[in-house]
Amino acid sequence: MVNVIGLGYIGLPTALMLASHGVEVVGTDYNAGLVKTLESGHTTFKEDGLDDLFAAAVKAGIRFTTEYQVTDTYIVSVPTPYDDFSKKVDPCYVVAAVNSVLDVAPKGAVVVIESTVSPGTIDKYVRPAVEEKGLKTGEDVHLVHAPERIIPGNMVYELLHNNRTIGADEREVGERVKELYSSFCQGEIVVTGIRTAEMTKVVENTFRAVNIAFANELAKICRHDGMDVYEIIRICNMHPRVNILQPGPGVGGHCISVDPWFLVGDYPSLATVIGESMKVNDGMPDFVLERIYDIMKENGVTDISRVGLYGLTYKENVDDMRQSPTLQLLDSQARHLAEGLKVYDPFVTRDVVKNQYHDLDAFLRCVDIVVVMVGHDEIKKNQSLLEGKIVFDTRNVITLPGVYHI
Ligand SMILES: NC(=O)c1ccc[n+]([C@@H]2O[C@H](COP(=O)([O-])OP(=O)(O)OC[C@H]3O[C@@H](n4cnc5c(N)ncnc54)[C@H](O)[C@@H]3O)[C@@H](O)[C@H]2O)c1
Repeated sequence: MVNVIGLGYIGLPTALMLASHGVEVVGTDYNAGLVKTLESGHTTFKEDGLDDLFAAAVKAGIRFTTEYQVTDTYIVSVPTPYDDFSKKVDPCYVVAAVNSVLDVAPKGAVVVIESTVSPGTIDKYVRPAVEEKGLKTGEDVHLVHAPERIIPGNMVYELLHNNRTIGADEREVGERVKELYSSFCQGEIVVTGIRTAEMTKVVENTFRAVNIAFANELAKICRHDGMDVYEIIRICNMHPRVNILQPGPGVGGHCISVDPWFLVGDYPSLATVIGESMKVNDGMPDFVLERIYDIMKENGVTDISRVGLYGLTYKENVDDMRQSPTLQLLDSQARHLAEGLKVYDPFVTRDVVKNQYHDLDAFLRCVDIVVVMVGHDEIKKNQSLLEGKIVFDTRNVITLPGVYHI
């Protein structure tokens, strides 16, 4: 039996995937409300294919609880934020979860850490936690790191098809965990060491962050001198060895906006390109706010409350708002003491910010300028609703004439 610890964006689909592929699974989360929702037959977030997967897993007998189980295999999928000051990974959730596992785990149990951690975290924080309990790794408990790389919006497909990395002290334990993931994973599964697995996951997200920062910086340069960044990127990408990403209003989510900071925190004098890239990305919401003020001026709009932000989530067609550019922009606006922007997102049904609307028509009626912060299908497919408005499209998804860009 596998006990999956942490039933959030990563732990829940992983638990469901294992259960629906013949593995006995119990999902544990210390959030009693979340467990209650799952027990009552409902998923806790929106994701393509998740409800069907949930139904299959329930049929196969998955259980949800707040209790840690006595079993031979644990998968830990709890948050790993960065420390605001040092930018280093904050391992407190992982260490707390491993400690709770060790309180019940029988001798020889395998503890798989799926949470993203910076290289060396397991050596520095998890092994000592094991030793403090008088236990020995490799004998009493086997540590494994199997970082998750799926993307919200396409999680179910990617769980099935992505390649995976398993880092283990002992090859044989790594192979056993590989077999477990092979129950559903059709991608290639590489078994390697723990530190290599830690580093590869962080490097993958850092690669994305640096490349997004490059596109964002190009957008700023082009804006400064009136050049069309999208046309320039399009032509450059016709070169066989160039593949520039698209600029945007910033980077959010629990991965690309977080993980590269781990390297900056751990290697401040070495990770300089990475650090500067993160600053460029984190500066984009401010850049968008400045553009909003310029567009207001150009169009004679003097009241910020006549401007509406379309989209609160960090990317299109998901409900995850963590570190979203819109939230960063609203924070920045509050710091400038110029609150008043209106906000709407079809995926965010509860009230999370001031001046939030839950009806698109009502939102559009109240604003003159619409800033498209997220390219949800809803707006892409209903662009005519924006006719007559001043549109600032930060995602380059609106094809109406006269649209402003980043
Ligand atoms: N969200 C993503 O897109 C994504 C993608 C790849 C990797 N990751 C990584 O996966 C890890 C988990 O991220 P997430 O997005 O699923 O986080 P999340 O916040 O959605 O879920 C974490 C869950 O863990 C629970 N939890 C925390 N500590 C616990 C404990 N001690 N015992 C039991 N439950 C506990 C929380 O209640 C929460 O439900 C992070 O390290 C993240 O970096 C996330």
